[in-house]
Amino acid sequence: MKKRIFSGAQPTGELHIGNYLGALKNWVALQDKYESFYCIVNLHAVTLPQDPKTLRQKTLDLARIYLAAGLDPERSTIFIQSDVPAHAELTWVLSCIARMGELERMTQFKDKGKGNTERAGVGLFTYPILMAADILLYQTDLVPVGQDQKQHLELTRDLAERFNRDFGETFKVPEPYIPPVGANILSLQDPTKKMSKSDENAAGAIFLLDDADTITKKIKRAVTDSGTEINFDENRPAIRNLLTIYQLLTGKTADECVAHFVGKGYGQLKGELAEATVEFLRPFQERVKQYDDDSLRKILDDGADKASSVASTTLKTVYERMGFN
Ligand code: AMP
Ligand code: TRP
Repeated sequence: MKKRIFSGAQPTGELHIGNYLGALKNWVALQDKYESFYCIVNLHAVTLPQDPKTLRQKTLDLARIYLAAGLDPERSTIFIQSDVPAHAELTWVLSCIARMGELERMTQFKDKGKGNTERAGVGLFTYPILMAADILLYQTDLVPVGQDQKQHLELTRDLAERFNRDFGETFKVPEPYIPPVGANILSLQDPTKKMSKSDENAAGAIFLLDDADTITKKIKRAVTDSGTEINFDENRPAIRNLLTIYQLLTGKTADECVAHFVGKGYGQLKGELAEATVEFLRPFQERVKQYDDDSLRKILDDGADKASSVASTTLKTVYERMGFN
């Protein structure tokens, strides 16, 4: 039997090249070897205020992006989180075994709550429990995500182990898959921060649907470090970041990239990176336009059916273990 993968992204903002290189690219690469579940996590999206009409549209747009990136509905189960009620139901059960202290330690809550915990939504606080429910419902072996999700994965493992200990062996304890290169693509404007959908400074992120002109401008304006050498020096995060994006988009090895830019300047790196990015995104953007709403709906409905049958089996066991039926 194939091992299982579960992962997901939120249908908010615009997906950027960091989401692609840190997550989606690996989802596509792993879908043959694993039985894969890829979710559009709209329940997570409403932990921050969303306009319902926009959210509905963004949900379908994200499905288009999954498909254009190469997720294949014949090989992977692609579905919308709110179509499978077991996610919300297991979240409640896990909420009752999770502890305030362990959630208070989650750095993403501190970041997204902007330090104002009095005003933050309770859902934003309990968000990692919903993520744990997503993963544990599918008896997942591997969770491919970017570096920023590592802490949430540790909580997921802790909750699974605690439940198994207290109520009997029920959940598989999942492993994270964080890629060795690309797990933390940085902002082009501030390399002390990750590239982010919610960055106030849109120039910091290359969005997957940016046009050629915008991409080129953003890369040309990217901040650089002092010095002139082009290499993967940890102390020069801006250049290292540009070179990492170049490496992943061209499929070259790190050594090949460094050798390629020996004796060349930052201008050359930016020019070639802009070209590689535009070339990479052009066919991707063409593919995004191919899927109409009806065919998407069909894929997502089929996905929800398949996901539900797995999720409801796990939930049934959980309810039995809890003494609910
Ligand atoms: P999100 O859009 O926040 O739902 O994230 C979707 C996936 O992209 C998650 O697996 C994140 O860890 C990953 N991701 C988000 N930002 C970055 C980044 N700057 N670099 C690498 N991976 C990222
Ligand atoms: N929390 C993840 C993010 O913001 C998205 C997510 C929700 C997820 N549920 C998940 C990722 C389950 C992996 C597995 O990126």
